Amino acid sequence: MPEDLVAGIDKARLPKHIAIIMDGNGRWAQEKGQDRLYGHFHGVESVRNIVEGAAELGIQYLTLYAFSTENWDRPQQEVEGLMSLLVDTIRKEVPTLNKNNIRLHVIGDLNMLPDFARMELEESLEMTKANTGLNLVMALSYSSRWELVNAVKNIGIDVKAGRINPETINQETLEQYLSTSDFPDPELMIRTSGEYRISNFLLYQLAYAELYFTDTRWPDFRKENLYEAIIDFQNRERRFGKTGQQIKEESPLT
Ligand code: IPE
Ligand code: IPE
Ligand code: MG
Repeated sequence: MPEDLVAGIDKARLPKHIAIIMDGNGRWAQEKGQDRLYGHFHGVESVRNIVEGAAELGIQYLTLYAFSTENWDRPQQEVEGLMSLLVDTIRKEVPTLNKNNIRLHVIGDLNMLPDFARMELEESLEMTKANTGLNLVMALSYSSRWELVNAVKNIGIDVKAGRINPETINQETLEQYLSTSDFPDPELMIRTSGEYRISNFLLYQLAYAELYFTDTRWPDFRKENLYEAIIDFQNRERRFGKTGQQIKEESPLT
């Protein structure tokens, strides 16, 4: 029962930012004898359910990996179907996002999107920008290597223009040039469907995230599964390079 699981979650120690690699739509559909787009279509139900579950719990940031830079290399029919599904869904969900005080953000190389899709996305961002509850970050046409190269390029431009002194570049500088500059690092990263890799997702930002892998395919992933992942997260000891002893001394109650 979801309620029992929720009772097992310590609301004072929620991960501030959860990032999810929503994987397994294609296999889920193929196992049912359907084509891959059928899986993506059902994946949208999981997105709704998880966004609702995260908002109800009071999670502040939720990043969903919806489409990678590398996914552009999939068969054209799948790319087109998936893109219009994503953009249509986002647009249709705006009233629900507003009702639930959810602010939408997008990270990724939006220049790769067709003009109409980019414009619709920008409108949706604009329409939810006053919301102060959950920050929902959609990673769309996103890859970490693209993001890092882009950041380095822009730092180079600003150095050349005399806006930054290269001697002063530190971690904070780099972070300001990433597409996640407005968000804290994810504390918990979930990947569905039994794959144990990062697939070019938030390589820099996941430095100290707790990683959680589940065999459940994305279209079957529901709030209960999210709550289980959060409970698992809360049972871990995060050390950030220190010793377990130091961590216990710093927060003796946990
Ligand atoms: C995740 O499901 C959605 C996207 C990557 C866009 P997949 O489409 O990767 O499904 P599998 O991994 O082939 O089962
Ligand atoms: C990662 O899944 C990207 C998204 C979930 C959007 P993929 O299915 O593209 O990753 P690989 O190819 O299995 O590593
Ligand atoms: Mg996949």
